[in-house]
Amino acid sequence: MLATTARSVALAPRTAAVRVSRRAVAVRASSEPINPSIKKDVDKVVDTVSIKDLDKPKVAYCRCWRSDTFPLCNGAHVKHNAATGDNVGPLLVAKE
Ligand code: FES
Repeated sequence: MLATTARSVALAPRTAAVRVSRRAVAVRASSEPINPSIKKDVDKVVDTVSIKDLDKPKVAYCRCWRSDTFPLCNGAHVKHNAATGDNVGPLLVAKE
């Protein structure tokens, strides 16, 4: 789990991860946009990946680091985008 956390922090350099226990990592949000360059011409960047072996029709994973249900998206990206001018949205994993 720690290796995954370190990789995630590297993908979001403006977000600070603080190790609070052996099993939990708290992500402290910054007030800056986290997407400096990807698809800045669209209001919200949402990408979809389709896979065969998924036990639900669709799962939304957070990419803004603001979700209280991280790693799942809870819609917190809307508030983040409005406050910072960012355009980040979730990664959707859908069943094929
Ligand atoms: S809450 Fe983070 S992408 Fe939706």
